[in-house]
Amino acid sequence: MTQVMAQPASQSSTQAVSVITIDGPVSSGKGTIARRVAVALGWHLLDSGALYRLLGLHARNLGVSLEDSDALVPLARDLPARFIEQRGDLLIELAGVDVSDFLRTEEVGELASRVAVHQPVRDALMARQQSFAQPPGLVADGRDMGTVVFTRAPLKIYLTASPEERARRRYNQLKEKGFDANLAALVEDIRNRDERDMNRDVAPLKPADDALVIDSTPLTIDDVLDRILGEARKRTLV
Ligand code: DC
Repeated sequence: MTQVMAQPASQSSTQAVSVITIDGPVSSGKGTIARRVAVALGWHLLDSGALYRLLGLHARNLGVSLEDSDALVPLARDLPARFIEQRGDLLIELAGVDVSDFLRTEEVGELASRVAVHQPVRDALMARQQSFAQPPGLVADGRDMGTVVFTRAPLKIYLTASPEERARRRYNQLKEKGFDANLAALVEDIRNRDERDMNRDVAPLKPADDALVIDSTPLTIDDVLDRILGEARKRTLV
C-alpha cells in the first residue's frame, strides 16, 4: 500500500514534478481529501496551513510579536520543523518537540491566522513550500496553492461546500470527539471566517482562473476523491 510521504531532505528543482493543488475555505474537507489523494497516488503531501501554524507557535514560544513582520521573517526562513512519516501518519516536530496534535488546536489556528497576514512572512515561507515538490509528485493543500505558490500546477482544485454543510460536518466531528457544539454558532463562525479569508488584502482566498471548482455539498469524500483522481488520469498525471 502506498503511504503519504513526509518532506524529503533534498530541495532540488520543482520544475518537472507534477503538482495537484487543493485550495478552499475553512472546513471544506480539503485536508482530508488532500491526504486521500496523496495516499492513493503515493505522492508527497504539503499541509501549508501547518507551516503557518508552526510559525505562529514558534514565534509565541520565543516571545516574538505576531504583529512584528520583520522579526517573523527570519523565523519563517529557518523554521526548525521536521515532518516525519510514521505508519501513514505525519508526525510534526518543532525544535525537536512533537507538536502534531497541539498544532491542530483552535489556539494555534489563531496564532497562524495572525502571522499569515504579513506578505513578507508569506514570501519567506514560499521556498519552503515549493521544496515539497519532489518526485513522484505533490498534493498541496492550502488557501493559495494554485493562485500563488504553484501557479504552474497541471491540476488545480478549489474545493468548497455551503456554509451550512461545512458547519454540519464540523458539528458532527466535534460531537464524535465528545465536545459540546452549537450548529447555529458554527454556521456564523464559518461565514465570518469566509468573509475574512476572501476579503483580506494579502493572498485572499479565491479559485485560480484555471481551477476546477468542486462543490462537495451533495458529495461524499469518496465521490470527491474519484472526481479528482479521474481528472488526474484525464490529464495524464498518473
Ligand atoms: O488550514 P489551516 O486551518 O491549518 O490554516 C491555518 C491558518 O493559516 C489559517 O488562518 C489560514 C492560514 N493559511 C494561509 O493563509 N495560507 C495557506 N496556504 C494555508 C493556511
